[in-house]
Amino acid sequence: MERTLAIIKPDGVAAGLIGDIIKRIEYEGVKVAGMRLTQLDRRQAEGFYYVHRSKPFFNSLIDYMTSGPVVLMALQGNNIISHWRELMGATDPAKAGRGTIRGDMGTNIERNVVHGSDSNESAIFEINYFFKGTDIVT
Ligand code: CMP
Repeated sequence: MERTLAIIKPDGVAAGLIGDIIKRIEYEGVKVAGMRLTQLDRRQAEGFYYVHRSKPFFNSLIDYMTSGPVVLMALQGNNIISHWRELMGATDPAKAGRGTIRGDMGTNIERNVVHGSDSNESAIFEINYFFKGTDIVT
């Protein structure tokens, strides 16, 4: 059993897609083990995305991620890290397949509706970044 961090980003929340996205998650039999609606401040967003701090899109990414509420989720299931990445589709919605969340709902490579951890190491970092152990149910 594995866990990953999923985020419904500000564009997804603003477009009223929370329900649609959670429906896709639950339809797949994936368990939501932790969930919170919040608005990130710059310090939180910069710490979360520190691996991208030297990328040219970093400031724009932080502006976007702090522009409105997000939904943070800890998802749990067999191979959930790769499973959630399949459900999200490619980072760039233009390259994401039909039937994926980003392919169906994304706007561009920045405003791509959802986030998912890319490895077990980052999943542990990212879940611990936002959730206390007592906020996760097993
Ligand atoms: P995410 O999976 O959350 O990880 C980093 C985010 O940075 C990514 O989704 C996009 O929102 C954004 N991103 C990645 N590549 C680019 C890019 N080339 N230009 C703008 N934003 C990007």
